[in-house]
Amino acid sequence: MFGAGDPRAEFVVIGEGPGADEDAQGLPFVGRAGQLLTKMLEAPGVGFSRAQVYITNTVKCRPPGNRNPEADELAACAPVLTAQLAALQPRVVLALGSVATQSLLGTKEPIGRLRGRVHPYGSAVLIPTFHPAFLLRNPGQEYKRMAWEDLKLARREYDQRRTR
Ligand code: URA
Repeated sequence: MFGAGDPRAEFVVIGEGPGADEDAQGLPFVGRAGQLLTKMLEAPGVGFSRAQVYITNTVKCRPPGNRNPEADELAACAPVLTAQLAALQPRVVLALGSVATQSLLGTKEPIGRLRGRVHPYGSAVLIPTFHPAFLLRNPGQEYKRMAWEDLKLARREYDQRRTR
């Protein structure tokens, strides 16, 4: 799984790693979590289509049994993600879940404390939010509402920062 979407997009979404469906198709976020991600991007006040953004993952191969990627796996894939970001030159990065957020920001702080605000990230800003798979496992309205706030924040940042 490499990535998919508009290679000229200035809005880049970064997940954790491919699941079984993504592994089979070679595309990011095509399973259940991916369907929810599509809805999150299309939500009122957000208004992105998948074709308008670029979507990829922190690790490029599926960790066996869907476990979290280990430190050596994150390290092996980091140069690929770094090269992708260097080519894409995003203005806004939406980081989904703790694995992506912690690895991009180089922190161990929990996602609940990192989300809800804008983090400087090179010439971009990074906005963390809950992973859609977490939202599927925790279907309460409260987490959904927080994720929606994060996505709207990301959209506002994009509208201010985009160059094309
Ligand atoms: N979860 C992820 O983090 N990435 C995918 O591509 C699919 C599910």
